[in-house]
Amino acid sequence: MTPDVTLFEVGPRDGLQSRGGMVPTEGKIALIDALSRSGIRRIEATSFVSPRWVPQMADAAEVMAGITRSPGVRYAALTPNLTGLERARAAGCDEVAVFASASEGFSRANLNCSIEESFARFAPVIEAAGHAGLPVRGYLSMVIACPFDGPTDPARAAYWTRRLIEAGCYEVSLGDTIGAGTPETLDTLLNVVLEEVAPGQLAGHFHDTSGRAAELVALSLERGLRTFDASVAGLGGCPYAPGAPGNVDTRRVLEVIEAQGLFHGIDLEALAEAEAIAQGLTRG
Ligand code: HMG
Ligand code: MG
Repeated sequence: MTPDVTLFEVGPRDGLQSRGGMVPTEGKIALIDALSRSGIRRIEATSFVSPRWVPQMADAAEVMAGITRSPGVRYAALTPNLTGLERARAAGCDEVAVFASASEGFSRANLNCSIEESFARFAPVIEAAGHAGLPVRGYLSMVIACPFDGPTDPARAAYWTRRLIEAGCYEVSLGDTIGAGTPETLDTLLNVVLEEVAPGQLAGHFHDTSGRAAELVALSLERGLRTFDASVAGLGGCPYAPGAPGNVDTRRVLEVIEAQGLFHGIDLEALAEAEAIAQGLTRG
């Protein structure tokens, strides 16, 4: 049976990128392999960013080389520039992602450039990925609010979402990076964004700061979104977004999907093994 909803697991990347201590490469590999056995079909394994900016992801190539690839699983990675794309290609990633911000303050903090400059940087990445046959996902951070700039104008978030699609991203993941969203603010945002792009081109990426991410997933499902980013055992954070905690827990997203009578196709017992590994990696 084809799942009604796609779970996009970001724990190995978003979950581990902001750990204070370094997680051993073998631990990351064990986590990704356990996730691969759970029936999850899309896994963001790592990111090919500057190791000076995010030391926790410096072992990206080793992680990709060490995992046991499961047929039917797409292993993705973040690639902010051409250097990242070349590294991701060499490592055999199945898809890559560029990441922009809906707020100027976070764009500067996370990418060291303005939003418009970040798009100029993504253009050759998307073009080269296309030549290499790699699908490109787009992220848009701070779609609700930003720790530097305050509330985000939904019209601006919608504008940058459309720009990511026009630039060649097959999907845009809407990031409530600091978990500031409520069902009301997300509904307002989706009203505007859905005038620009179809729900099938969107994913929800909700950090669970206020404990409301599950409500945001439920609302997004009602509004027609069918792809959600989540972190096994709720791992997560962003090193350049003060106050950004873990992504919504993968298991919690699956519960919300089930509660709406939809099918996710994930084996919960196998997921428990991945959860145990995740908890072991981040303990202490
Ligand atoms: P920069 O310092 O402006 O760029 O950083 P640069 O080109 O001057 O490069 C600086 C150094 O990094 C150079 O090394 C480059 O070679 C090297 P040096 O000569 O000084 O030794 N470098 C690289 N090395 C390996 N791989 C690369 C790479 N690029 C440059 N790809 C840059 C600009 C974009 C590189 C930097 O700002 C960066 O890496 N930022 C990434 C930050 C990041 O990973 N943030 C977390 C992910 S985003 C997120 O979590 C949000 C999300 O989850 C959605 C949400 O929650 O909203 C996706
Ligand atoms: Mg995130």
